[in-house]
Amino acid sequence: MRHLMSPLDFSVEELDKLLTLASDIEKNPKKYAHICDDKRLATCFYEPSTRTRLSFEAAMMNLGGKVLGFSSADSSSAAKGESVADTIRVVSCYADICAMRHPKEGAPLVASMYSSIPVINAGDGGHQHPTQTLTDLLTIRSLKGRLNNLTIGLCGDLKFGRTVHSLIEALVRYTGIRFYLISPEELRVPSYIREDVLNRNHVSYTEVERLEEAIPELDILYMTRVQRERFFNEEDYVRMKDFYVLDKAKMELAREDMFVLHPLPRVNEISVEVDNDPRAAYFRQAQYGVYVRMALILTLLEVELPC
Ligand code: NCD
Repeated sequence: MRHLMSPLDFSVEELDKLLTLASDIEKNPKKYAHICDDKRLATCFYEPSTRTRLSFEAAMMNLGGKVLGFSSADSSSAAKGESVADTIRVVSCYADICAMRHPKEGAPLVASMYSSIPVINAGDGGHQHPTQTLTDLLTIRSLKGRLNNLTIGLCGDLKFGRTVHSLIEALVRYTGIRFYLISPEELRVPSYIREDVLNRNHVSYTEVERLEEAIPELDILYMTRVQRERFFNEEDYVRMKDFYVLDKAKMELAREDMFVLHPLPRVNEISVEVDNDPRAAYFRQAQYGVYVRMALILTLLEVELPC
């Protein structure tokens, strides 16, 4: 039985297969509409979410399966003091696969150790968010036609933003990847990402503070929200929150074939005036998230695929 805790749990070849399956699902949704008729997905979300939880639920419904779960710690037995280990043992009796989000780093990993069904990490604290990364990879591959030879700008809260950590880990395995890490000094990527992931893999990266400096070079600009809930004090958050605002003027500095991604939710970091720019791909990205989660559910459940 396989779980998904980090994007590295799949080899590049396995990822390629998964993304190809997701693209086939996009083109031929009917083919997959009843493939999970007898399956159930549990969504155990101890932290707020819109896209991740709903896209998992939509994914299972699109496959003909059913969904159950909870969307906050308050509405689960966690409020009574139940451990994640006990909860997953119980959920294993009710569902065939579980997507779990938790504010504590490593909680889904603990769950996977006690589970008798596949567990998917749907975001653990400031650590990892592998299914967002699958979404990002599918989006980039669909829009640019490749996952190698790309210059990618990651902008905003690179310290607490788990989507950024997972995306960097996944992309360093492709050739010709170059990063611009665009953040204020206080929100730079954690040193373990710099040392253990970027430097160890000899990946080329430049750390800059000004978005204007990097934007003309980019194939992909990945914007992120300042993660208010992970700050220790409100004052620091207030100082950082509007550090970057991508607007029409900045988009004029970018290439015609650059795409803007954002895991969403957006706060102020992308002005709504950018939404109608053909290069703004963040809502399309949310749609790709459903296809890739359908492909992931099928892969982890080892469902026999239609030809
Ligand atoms: C991200 C997350 O939860 O980490 N959102 C998402 O899953 N689409 C990004 C964020 O919350 O800023």
